Amino acid sequence: AAGGLRVRSAFRQGLFTDKVAIVTGGGTGIGKAITQELLYLGCKVMIASRSEEKVRTAAAEMSSQIPTDSPAQIKALQCNIRKEEDVKNLFSKTIGEFGKLDFLVNNAGGQFPSPAAHISLKGWNAVVDTNLNGTFLCCREAYHSWMSEHGGVIVNIIADMWKGFPMMSHTGAARAAVDNLTKSLALEWAANGIRINSVAPGSSIYSDTAARNYSSSDNIFLREIPNIPAKRLGKPEEVSTAVCFLLSPSSAFITGETIKVDGGQSLYRFSFEVPDHNKQPAYDWEKLIKEEESDGSPKSKL
Ligand code: ADE
Repeated sequence: AAGGLRVRSAFRQGLFTDKVAIVTGGGTGIGKAITQELLYLGCKVMIASRSEEKVRTAAAEMSSQIPTDSPAQIKALQCNIRKEEDVKNLFSKTIGEFGKLDFLVNNAGGQFPSPAAHISLKGWNAVVDTNLNGTFLCCREAYHSWMSEHGGVIVNIIADMWKGFPMMSHTGAARAAVDNLTKSLALEWAANGIRINSVAPGSSIYSDTAARNYSSSDNIFLREIPNIPAKRLGKPEEVSTAVCFLLSPSSAFITGETIKVDGGQSLYRFSFEVPDHNKQPAYDWEKLIKEEESDGSPKSKL
């Protein structure tokens, strides 16, 4: 039994025995929960992250939790998913180490809160480069290095950007693009035996990593609770279970789809407040015509 692993699973132990997965950003937050559930289910996992030290420490910690009688294994590689060479190296080394590649989870990402008006081109490009271009590079390399011939399953982690993503417009745009990429690839690669889907966590998934990234501690998370039909925050483990479902044969007939894991938040209240103002007067054609008649200048061609 996988007694040492901190994360259990509702899925059958051994479900992913002899499977090999790459999880980008697999050392922290939601990615770590995905990695731990995959390990519990017997998977061999390569975690990848930009920081060599962080990803190695995380792999060593999770490796020490794998019981000796489990087929699960974890290895770590430094990889900046923005760099084509790093991505090629990640896939060739993973296939070299584990002999195959069944699953890719594109979880690595990053963004910073800012009004759109104050995002520099550099900041904008960095967020699009990681979240959109990095995901594309990993999908393309999974295809060429293994999945075009042998099939496979890809899951992209996106975000709750369904009503726009004010104060996070860069990542909203990038994640919406990944949602669309998921559909294009589901069609283009269906004939290769590849399924590809997305999981869209709400901003209300609480992990220590997320809390650290968005500084002002638990506060911004707790303030969201009234806006969530579930009336609580979500857990990284509640995202990983959706990922495992999409990787498993239980979802064999699902491709090009997105599962929201947000406690219903995207259907309900929006936390962004538009300030009161009078800057958007109604369209008034009578006024336009009166102005035309009085000064003779054509204000409308209606
Ligand atoms: N996590 C956040 N940004 C990343 C990047 N560029 N490469 C890999 N993991 C990341």
